[in-house]
Amino acid sequence: MSISTPLQARITAIGSYVPAHILSNADLQGMVDTNDEWIVQRTGIKERRIAAANEFTSHLCIAAVQNMLTRYPSSLDDVELIIVATHTPDLPSTPVACQIQAHFCIPETGAYDLNATCAGFTYALHTASGLVAAGVHSKVLVVGGDSMSKITDYTDRSTCILFGDGAGAVLVEREEERPAFLAHHLGSDGSGGKHVYRTGLSSNLNGIPLAGEGKLVQNGREVYKFAVTTVPQGIEKLLMKSGLPHTTIDWFIPHSANLRIIESISEKCGIAFEKALYSLEYYGNTSAASIPLSLDLGIKEGKVRSGDTLLLYGFGGGLTHSGLIVRWG
Ligand code: UT7
Repeated sequence: MSISTPLQARITAIGSYVPAHILSNADLQGMVDTNDEWIVQRTGIKERRIAAANEFTSHLCIAAVQNMLTRYPSSLDDVELIIVATHTPDLPSTPVACQIQAHFCIPETGAYDLNATCAGFTYALHTASGLVAAGVHSKVLVVGGDSMSKITDYTDRSTCILFGDGAGAVLVEREEERPAFLAHHLGSDGSGGKHVYRTGLSSNLNGIPLAGEGKLVQNGREVYKFAVTTVPQGIEKLLMKSGLPHTTIDWFIPHSANLRIIESISEKCGIAFEKALYSLEYYGNTSAASIPLSLDLGIKEGKVRSGDTLLLYGFGGGLTHSGLIVRWG
């Protein structure tokens, strides 16, 4: 496998948002047959944030962009493309990206949503960095946001303890002096789509009848197996493409689905668990938002510093997975 050439693009700003309402493990104990000890031991999750009844993915994403603008003053007037990674848009046929365009009155920009479920943010970063490095666009706004509470069945203890709502936003801009996107890796396995899905127009997948009626259904054990086998293999390929040894990774930022999955992947890849950044403890599994939320927490806590090498890896429904090695700042 040949070593990839770093892409002449860089993340120049980040922002994030989670709703105010907290759903704790104790709260869930009153809703389904579960308990704090089981949830913490099996997932690492203590709390999650839940959007208000009238708060949807567009609101979460707009708030994340607003937070980014407050912290990294930058004009959005010259944004040429908005990509929103989500699988929970407010309306099936209106891209959240267009709602962002309208809210910030961005004058001349393309706008679309990308659905790669929990791997959506890394897929969107892959696309944005490629387009910027190729010279097709000079400034792309990438947002990952999901309102998982709106598609969660709160009578199903195997899923309702996992998910939360949130959004994260970054700007990807042209950078010739210090190219920051060092390697990419993408993958998918559609035969595993039956293990985590939500029915829509059809309740049939590849000939298999599905249950759930519009709420998320998951075979946790199968998705767990997928994560702890496919992701380490993907990380190995990613590191080979970058030409970097795993010891040069300063921060490992996987999709925040389950702390045990993160521990297992870290161990298999020889990346010290202390280098993992995750957002699941207080936000749960926020799907496309989980990686930018984890990165932003790492920045706010003073862990992630300019020049650090980050390994981001998303995985989820589809099944999909996608990783990048990125230099921060
Ligand atoms: O973001 C998309 C990607 N998704 C993921 O990465 C999720 C991957 N999967 C997981 O994180 C884990 O499989 C879960 C956290 C979903 C489940 O953990 P597990 O250790 O795989 O549990 P399990 O499904 O094997 O269930 C073990 C036992 C079962 O009882 P029996 O059959 O052994 O008597 C379940 O009925 O735990 C029971 N159980 C619960 N008990 C208390 C399942 N959910 C709960 C619960 N509270 N909430």
